[in-house]
Amino acid sequence: MNSKILITGFNGELGSKTLDFLAKKNSKIIGIDLSKKTILDDNIDLIQGSISDKELIQSIFDNNIISEVYHFAALLSQTASNNPELATQINEEASKNLINCAMDHGIKNNLKVKFFFPSSIAVYGPRKIHNASEVDIIKPTTIYGINKLAVEQYGTKKHLESDAKNYGIDFRSIRFPGVISNDTVPNGGTTDYAPQMIHAAVNNEQYVCKLSEQTILPFISINKTVSSINQLMNIDTINSALRVFNIQEASFSINDLYKFIQSKFSEFKIEYEIDFKFQSVADTWPSSLNCDEAKNKWDFSSSENVETFILKILNKMMDK
Ligand code: SER
Repeated sequence: MNSKILITGFNGELGSKTLDFLAKKNSKIIGIDLSKKTILDDNIDLIQGSISDKELIQSIFDNNIISEVYHFAALLSQTASNNPELATQINEEASKNLINCAMDHGIKNNLKVKFFFPSSIAVYGPRKIHNASEVDIIKPTTIYGINKLAVEQYGTKKHLESDAKNYGIDFRSIRFPGVISNDTVPNGGTTDYAPQMIHAAVNNEQYVCKLSEQTILPFISINKTVSSINQLMNIDTINSALRVFNIQEASFSINDLYKFIQSKFSEFKIEYEIDFKFQSVADTWPSSLNCDEAKNKWDFSSSENVETFILKILNKMMDK
């Protein structure tokens, strides 16, 4: 049987781009998402279903040889805060179940299933720190951060157990900053203001921002996100007990972003209506991430400043 790649959350921002990327490499893919999508490609089998449906997940592993898992299905931070029980069920419990299934599958089939988990800057807190390294203070204050951290730790533990057994899972994770896409506008996250502002400017719309202009957070473009995931997953072995890596391209304040967008779209206007639910979360997340571990262990590279970073995204949007 040919081995396949399992992608959960194939309709989400990261999931859909990763699906496209892997499909172009002619990988055999099984996807699962709550909503449907049809792709006419014999290599791709997309299933409509929930990641918390244990029987469905088990049947995917029982009926296929799965060599890699990309687990994107999740609720974003603000949606998670509004539904903490559902967040724990999807973001933590279903993730742990998926890790367990992948681990058992690896042991049963004498392989190490590569497992990618997208973590987040939300694992940090309770105070905002600068240049956060992987081992800096991680006391998340949100349910989203708590669930992400629990899965990071669970996956790392299962990875170490697999090392001892030689089979099981090969857990790899990235702590993502805010992701900015040139063609989709996210919803339900705390970092959504940056892509929303850029898209508003391009579409000649005014923007109402829920965070203060001094708020500083780190960001990465969707293209760099997908290429970094691919880079991390393509390495045969990562010689590191640390399994979760920080990456970013640029970090900037909302005012810096506004000023730069305005230099290109002079009509663009922003209004501030601070929402405590958003501000109180952003104030616990780092203003920037230290990427040294990713640079050393798997050659992650990035050398952007705010201007070149935003300009590249704007140029992509204008190209369409
Ligand atoms: N970008 C995500 C959010 O804002 C954090 O990982 O929810």
